[in-house]
Amino acid sequence: MAYRVIQWATGGVGRAAIEGVLSHPELELAGCWVHSAEKEGKDVGTLIGRDPLGVTATRDIDALLALGADCVFYSPVMANKPELLRILEAGVNVVTPLNWFYRGDRNWQDLEDACQKAGVTLHGTGIHPGGITERFPLMVSALSAGVTHVRAEEFSDLRTYNSPDVVRHIMGFGVSPEEAMAGPIVDLLGAGFKASVRMVVDEMGFGGGAEGVDYDTVQEIAVATAPIEAPFGTIEPGQVAARRFEWRALVDGTPVVSAVVNWLMGEEHLDPAWGFGPAGERFEVEVTGDPDVLLTFKGLQPESIEEGLVRNPGIVVTANHCVSAIPYVVAAEPGIRTYLDLPLLAGRAAPHLGGRRSS
Ligand SMILES: NC(=O)c1ccc[n+]([C@@H]2O[C@H](COP(=O)([O-])OP(=O)(O)OC[C@H]3O[C@@H](n4cnc5c(N)ncnc54)[C@H](OP(=O)(O)O)[C@@H]3O)[C@@H](O)[C@H]2O)c1
Repeated sequence: MAYRVIQWATGGVGRAAIEGVLSHPELELAGCWVHSAEKEGKDVGTLIGRDPLGVTATRDIDALLALGADCVFYSPVMANKPELLRILEAGVNVVTPLNWFYRGDRNWQDLEDACQKAGVTLHGTGIHPGGITERFPLMVSALSAGVTHVRAEEFSDLRTYNSPDVVRHIMGFGVSPEEAMAGPIVDLLGAGFKASVRMVVDEMGFGGGAEGVDYDTVQEIAVATAPIEAPFGTIEPGQVAARRFEWRALVDGTPVVSAVVNWLMGEEHLDPAWGFGPAGERFEVEVTGDPDVLLTFKGLQPESIEEGLVRNPGIVVTANHCVSAIPYVVAAEPGIRTYLDLPLLAGRAAPHLGGRRSS
């Protein structure tokens, strides 16, 4: 019997999630929540550019929760805590790329209580933060002895990320450098990455415990020197058009874990000049130890801006990582469960090649 999934929001991640659910042999799309009034009442197949699926998009949360689904794939632009609690309290598991990758020293007791009471699981996963930032570094670190540094780094052209709200309001592009470097944007953006760094630190034992580790954030910015077209409109000269964040854990002042993003609106008209280097767009995971190991991920960025704006592989893998987790999350013990709690999870064979778990 297939697990029944409700998709929560149909932005880039949400649309890719629906495709992922449709092609997963153990999953079935049961319902879909939308934020936009104009999408309400539309068939979900139509919303993702396919034939009708017989599932209607709705803004009626009660009706969705009454479906008795197994899992919600929660991917609105921003998390709404009361809404999330309501889903969990209704006895529905949740997988999401928004947050809840790792608790660290934060207080998530209300969500944990809701999970325990309703017997469900909440799991945060994705790509960055998500697999690239902590799951894959932890896996790769097992190949080395005496590890001194772990790095996960993204090099992406953000002109291909077709989420104006996320790019402007969460990633902080197209604003003044002062605005970009300050408060809310940086905190909002950094929370997930910092938690991922902390997961690697805790699991690998850097610093010998919480007291022995310091955390900091290093930021670099470039501004546009000429108008640059971005997903949300034009970035004017003087506004932020490239950003580098390095979220670090340090022992005795030396970095031991780094999660890094290099987000550029192209490689032209930037001050200071900035580029991806000869290796181009990519993700890297590097473990310094005995021996040093470097893994480069290609294929997670689109070949062209046009392709990315329609269907960005980075967004698709974010959705797929969440979708692939669903059967494991539904089967997991109740509570907030991270990569450290769940078993190794895998994708599924294509339908024409079997498309079923062998065990
Ligand atoms: N961890 C990772 O690796 C990772 C990677 C990519 C994205 N993300 C996160 O995933 C989330 C979704 O990203 P996305 O690329 O799909 O963004 P998106 O394309 O902007 O879509 C977000 C969707 O949220 C809904 N929405 C819009 N305004 C809203 C509001 N005020 N309240 C509630 N919902 C609202 C809309 O849904 P409808 O269109 O259905 O109305 C919109 O399409 C973001 O928080 C992003 O940061 C995480």
